Amino acid sequence: MNKVRTASRIRKAAARKENSQKHGEENPMLQDMSCPRSDHRSSFHLFTDALEIASFRRNLLSWYELHKRNLPWRKQASSESNLNKRAYAVWVSEVMLQQTQVATVIDYYNRWMKKWPTLEALAKASLEEVNQMWSGLGYYARGKRLHQGAQQVVSQLNGEMPQTAAELQKLLPGVGRYTAGAIASIAYGQATGVVDGNVIRVLCRVRCIGEDPSSPAVMAALWSLADSLVDPARPGDFNQALMELGALLCTPKTPLCAECPVKSHCRAYKWVQKDLDSAFQRLKGKGASDIEECAGTCPLCLPPSSPWSSKLGVTNFPRKSLKKQPRLVQSLTCVPERRSICGEPEYLLTQRPSSGLLAGMWEFPGIVSDTEIPKKDQERALSEHLAAVTGGTEGLRGLCYIGEVLHMFSHIHQTYLVYSLSLDEADGTTVVREGVRGVHTARWVTKAEFQKAAVSTAMKKIFKMYENRNAGKQEKNKIRKRKQSPEGDSIKPDTHRQLSLKRFFKPATK
Ligand code: ADE
Repeated sequence: MNKVRTASRIRKAAARKENSQKHGEENPMLQDMSCPRSDHRSSFHLFTDALEIASFRRNLLSWYELHKRNLPWRKQASSESNLNKRAYAVWVSEVMLQQTQVATVIDYYNRWMKKWPTLEALAKASLEEVNQMWSGLGYYARGKRLHQGAQQVVSQLNGEMPQTAAELQKLLPGVGRYTAGAIASIAYGQATGVVDGNVIRVLCRVRCIGEDPSSPAVMAALWSLADSLVDPARPGDFNQALMELGALLCTPKTPLCAECPVKSHCRAYKWVQKDLDSAFQRLKGKGASDIEECAGTCPLCLPPSSPWSSKLGVTNFPRKSLKKQPRLVQSLTCVPERRSICGEPEYLLTQRPSSGLLAGMWEFPGIVSDTEIPKKDQERALSEHLAAVTGGTEGLRGLCYIGEVLHMFSHIHQTYLVYSLSLDEADGTTVVREGVRGVHTARWVTKAEFQKAAVSTAMKKIFKMYENRNAGKQEKNKIRKRKQSPEGDSIKPDTHRQLSLKRFFKPATK
């Protein structure tokens, strides 16, 4: 497969070279993006006409004024007069919006800005508080880097945010080209483009870019397009309008082309119209009309291996990137439960190491494996781990398998095999012991504390399953009791064994 792609790229590059030599091109960007068909070779994938660019901007911005969503960060960006506060507000929103849907971000954003309305306030927070606030939002490194960035601005830049895209990218941790461009354009009015997933889709469609957008050549072309289109009079609004168009109309599967304010500038839309027209002509027995397209040796066009499909229409663009296969990971996880002195249920959480995946987050104790752990070994492996976490020397008994939870991290498919462990009395509240993977910090939390803790979505799913299963068990018990004789002597003992906490923490005596 790779060989085929490489050979095709080499052929394309050779054809490109020959073509550009024929035309004696000077500009390397044009050389790279030129189409071999002479009628549109320098403009098929570009915006070169100033009048067209002006019309595109006008149409898009007018639509945005009417249809933009009322989002809290937009209000902050337009009403905050203090530049540092404005840039900080945009920074927080843009980091949260990476890989997370707008609808999910709104509540997190409002709570975050209420708790830490300034860079200085955030810089003073602890990572534990940041993780707690970020809990459930995913990609936890984002919150950590935002926190580090705020601390850096306060300690190294005298509390002053950098004001250009280049400086923002250079000086702030975790700020890449997209975030830098968004902050610079929205907060400071710098005329610089942005390219995120929504913008990729819109631009690939308006200029029929059919090659893989994850390739460096295509990304370079997209950034160049975004920079050439951005409205210098309203760069922040323009960039947000382009993203809004991608989110609301130019959607991945069912775009609403009829409502699109820039359809008259969209080459994919024109292609669809001509396609329909050709089909109509053929029905009438006439020849098909000529469809404007590249010949297939252009580095931005639909590749010969996946040509235009009438069925797909504008969704021929963008081309789907070849995804890396996710890593499959299995985890044996336990929800240890005990009763507090007041009889309230409490659950044991352990803390992850301060670096790496989900750094510093809390989770139910468990072990992770890249290979499947045989069923017969699971209880032993988990009980030994629990003993190590809690400082015991022998494995624990009383584990009860309750089900499976699947969770997808960006590149990992994780299957949690969940066990319960019910303990019947309370003991020491915090256990800190050497464990099998280093130092484990552990603590018992109530349900309310769990809900506020720095735990990932996967842990929330596990807890939900655990609670549902308990609720189901209680319901079954009630039904069973109702069916019994008044003496109640036919109740079967619970198969879920209770275990003394003393035995949990202390080795059993023979
Ligand atoms: N996605 C990322 N940033 C955005 C913004 N400012 N508006 C809309 N969608 C976005």
